[in-house]
Amino acid sequence: MGTSERKPFIAANWKMFKTIGEAVAFTEALQKEVGILADREVVLAPAFTALAAVRKVMALEGFRLAAQNCHWEEKGAFTGEVSLGMLGDVGCDYVILGHSERRHIFGETDDDVARKVAAAFRHRVLPVLCVGEKLEERESGQTTAVVERQLEVAIRGLDPSEARELVIAYEPVWAIGTGRTATPEQAREVHGFIREHCGRLFDKDIANTVRIVYGGSVKPENVDALMAQPDIDGLLVGGASLEVASFRRIVQFVKL
Ligand code: 13P
Repeated sequence: MGTSERKPFIAANWKMFKTIGEAVAFTEALQKEVGILADREVVLAPAFTALAAVRKVMALEGFRLAAQNCHWEEKGAFTGEVSLGMLGDVGCDYVILGHSERRHIFGETDDDVARKVAAAFRHRVLPVLCVGEKLEERESGQTTAVVERQLEVAIRGLDPSEARELVIAYEPVWAIGTGRTATPEQAREVHGFIREHCGRLFDKDIANTVRIVYGGSVKPENVDALMAQPDIDGLLVGGASLEVASFRRIVQFVKL
């Protein structure tokens, strides 16, 4: 599979923003402005409370629903947690897993993320696996070692048929919410490393099929340059996904 066959994946991670009403209004407005999309996927990841309502108004081809987290157990006494069965039930196509805010604010470990990735495949809610290094790790030359460890723990137990459906998000922690975007070259370098590593863990065909998306201060001003890089297959957008105008421009990135 060549680069052109990996369908661009453009996701809005709304984090802990938007009421149900705001999420629905955004979804309706975006669909109206963007229309049917045949050549890219647009993924909206609202808070748990708004998933059902956004699903209900998501009507156009090309639009997909994602949750921002889950628990790996099927059911049980886990107060405050949401299972993959529940996310499938509400109509989620994807679930974002191992986001740096989950890892660094809430203490999620690589093993936790691995359990979630495996459970997500069991329920056919496809994981968007986030990896990325902290600033001090980059500055001490550990970027690839960190990304390799996060990746390996999370995906080594997958079947090849599962691995090919993965979406991996490279989100350098120092670029998230800071306004400091990785340069297209910095992002390309790590994306290339991730693809090669998927080749080592599985095979070349799977490595060429996996979509690897970039996240960290993506804005209308840098979207086209990022999407021009050969190994960048999409974007995971935080701040700039909260307004229809800026997210619309990102969705409508121009192929340079
Ligand atoms: P920002 O786009 O606000 O930097 O957030 C990125 C992110 O965390 C997406 O998951």
